[in-house]
Amino acid sequence: MSLSLRHSCHRLRTVRCWCRLGGLLICLAAALALPALASTRKIILDTDPGSDDAMALMLALNSPELDVRAITVVPGNVTAQQGLENALRMVSLANRCDIPVAAGAQHPLFQKLITAEFWHGKNGLANVELPPSKCKVDSRYGPDLIIQMVHAAPHEITLVPVGPLTNIALAVLKDPSIVPLVKEVILMGGSISGGNVNAAAEANIYNDPEAAQIVFQAGWPLTMVGLDVGDKTLISRKQLAELGRTHGPVNDFIYLVVKYLVELSEKYGSSGSPMYDPLAVGVAIDATLVTAPAMHVDVETRGEFTRGETVANRHGFVERNVLQGDRYVIEELDPVVPNAKVCVDVQADRFLQLFVSRIQGK
Ligand code: BDR
Ligand code: CA
Repeated sequence: MSLSLRHSCHRLRTVRCWCRLGGLLICLAAALALPALASTRKIILDTDPGSDDAMALMLALNSPELDVRAITVVPGNVTAQQGLENALRMVSLANRCDIPVAAGAQHPLFQKLITAEFWHGKNGLANVELPPSKCKVDSRYGPDLIIQMVHAAPHEITLVPVGPLTNIALAVLKDPSIVPLVKEVILMGGSISGGNVNAAAEANIYNDPEAAQIVFQAGWPLTMVGLDVGDKTLISRKQLAELGRTHGPVNDFIYLVVKYLVELSEKYGSSGSPMYDPLAVGVAIDATLVTAPAMHVDVETRGEFTRGETVANRHGFVERNVLQGDRYVIEELDPVVPNAKVCVDVQADRFLQLFVSRIQGK
């Protein structure tokens, strides 16, 4: 096996790669030398790339704790077509054509798409023009790919959606039997203290509230990495300077993305840019980065001012009102069953350090 071929096997894929290419002895030696492999988390990243999606994707690809089994693209920050192009160019830049990249939904379930080039640049990738992709799109439909992979590795796949939840909802609607077979869902979306689209709603949920409600109510272990906790992780000139000291295709790309985002935040009076999507990947890498109490979360799909809000019950009960004559009286407190771990705090410095060092290839 040539040296370059060996190098192309990314850390934890090494055993698989060698097993395919090398002999039994090499394979066994590699397996014994890598006890950490057992704890590697298999993820499917569902993304609407997206500048912070780009950082999330590169963090995932550069983290040995994660094994990115597929990337599915959802419309959100950009159209489905632009998002697919962006995803393909990024996996190509990272030399990871082995990862299936699949197109999914073309629009939200019941409403028109709202794209966000305003924040993410004309091409969604902070206006950074990446070289055309050497990687080819996987012909499978994103939700079908999710269904297939979950059945092929029951209880092993963690879904990490960092865009609107359309693809994940479509997968559940088509095959609800995947729900108990998914290890965990760690999603970026929602907020328990106001939105970024408007006073109530966060963008990923606002872009497809019905899909989000399906995902939150599905009954699988779910962690919500929301806007409010993401707002505590601001990447700023300090991290930009650190990224500027090292080089490589991925490092240099992320440097430009961060530069764009930091300048944009400064324009709007903030010292840094929130790491929304990368934090969801960070939680998949190391759940101790966040504090996440269990709550019951519903997605508002009808409210005049609150469509797309994630409504979280922080007390764990609801009052039971019974009609007595011409009024209701509170008779009892009924417990609610939590359906999500909701991130309320984060060790921001530790996370930012992790991000920078992984992008630097350390
Ligand atoms: C979310 O919306 C998108 O703009 C970002 O990529 C992130 O997923 C933040 O509200
Ligand atoms: Ca996103």
